Amino acid sequence: MQAIAVSEYGATPALTQLPRPEPGPGEILVKLIAAGLNPLDWKVADGLLKDSLDASFPLILGQDGAGVVEDAGEGVTRLRHGEQVYGSFFGAARGLGTYAEYTLAREDGPVARMPQGMIYTQAAAVPTAGMTALAMVEDARVDTGQTVLVVGATGGVGQAAVQLAARTGAKVIATARSDMAGTMRRLGAAETVDHSKGDLNAQVLAAHSDGIDAVLDMVSDTAATEAVAQMLRPGGTYMSTTWSVNPDSMAAKGLRGVNFEGEPSADLLDRLSDLIDAGELRVVIEREVPLRDAPDALAANRAGFRWRDDPPHPPGRATGPAPSTPLALRSGNRAGGARGKTVVRV
Ligand SMILES: NC(=O)c1ccc[n+]([C@@H]2O[C@H](COP(=O)([O-])OP(=O)(O)OC[C@H]3O[C@@H](n4cnc5c(N)ncnc54)[C@H](OP(=O)(O)O)[C@@H]3O)[C@@H](O)[C@H]2O)c1
Repeated sequence: MQAIAVSEYGATPALTQLPRPEPGPGEILVKLIAAGLNPLDWKVADGLLKDSLDASFPLILGQDGAGVVEDAGEGVTRLRHGEQVYGSFFGAARGLGTYAEYTLAREDGPVARMPQGMIYTQAAAVPTAGMTALAMVEDARVDTGQTVLVVGATGGVGQAAVQLAARTGAKVIATARSDMAGTMRRLGAAETVDHSKGDLNAQVLAAHSDGIDAVLDMVSDTAATEAVAQMLRPGGTYMSTTWSVNPDSMAAKGLRGVNFEGEPSADLLDRLSDLIDAGELRVVIEREVPLRDAPDALAANRAGFRWRDDPPHPPGRATGPAPSTPLALRSGNRAGGARGKTVVRV
């Protein structure tokens, strides 16, 4: 089968021919139709998680995918041949990922039936970002009447977090460049602030001089987090997906600081499916690329979470190391088009 894999940490991801995996007891073989791109995919390739990740090589990249159950191992009862499934399927220990024609998933792992009426490319964009946002918004105890700032709102986790926080009745302030402000409002943001135009705190405090109740942050480093946290009212909550929070420092200021780590599960996916079926959660897809172009898409995401030749992000934000390959996809970018998830068509 064809797959995008790395031969070792730090190697450039490349189109590779690899054997089709065989499902063992409790496993399903998924014929993938689409894979969703997450920043974790290039972080894995770069070896940024090598101390915590047990991986074998060649290592196929990609956690998220959507496809059809093609075969099942002994003892599989929940999912049947031919069912449309989506989920988080990364099997690093066996070198398996979703940028491939086939992968394996444990039936008792984070795999679920696809939302009704959703196409594969949309479903593949949901799992990691959606599960993270759902669990994080709940952990943050976001509630009616609160004011919540979402930093990194236009990304995969952010766009889901905006929608899920807004449906609790909270007032959501979303970071967005000007061309994405309308999209953020349509997803439920009450206000937007443009992180590419000046100081974030000044923009937020201009309309909320008495502070805000919670921050859901998918971008900031430790220094930026400390600065943004100054806007929190006593008792406020700061959730970071980039491990930028110092919980002790937050506690000393009467704040709750959490470095949020998602735990994928079939239950979370089922709940996302229900929200999607009810029309309460949407996914904004920026771009679909064929499997052979996945390495360029990964490089573009690593280069700063954006497709266009925008000005550099403000200092103090975690945007990852410099790109290792040219941003080949830039030439095809739409001026002022929507940003959102990138999906790989397998
Ligand atoms: N801990 C966990 O369990 C967990 C789970 C999922 C993801 N994560 C991590 O969370 C981070 C975000 O993931 P993602 O999937 O949402 O990424 P993504 O889809 O690539 O989106 C990143 C977003 O950040 C925005 N951005 C970049 N710099 C910004 C700034 N200075 N201020 C405000 N927004 C800015 C970008 O918008 P512009 O291009 O317009 O600037 C982009 O929309 C990644 O580091 C990922 O590894 C952690």
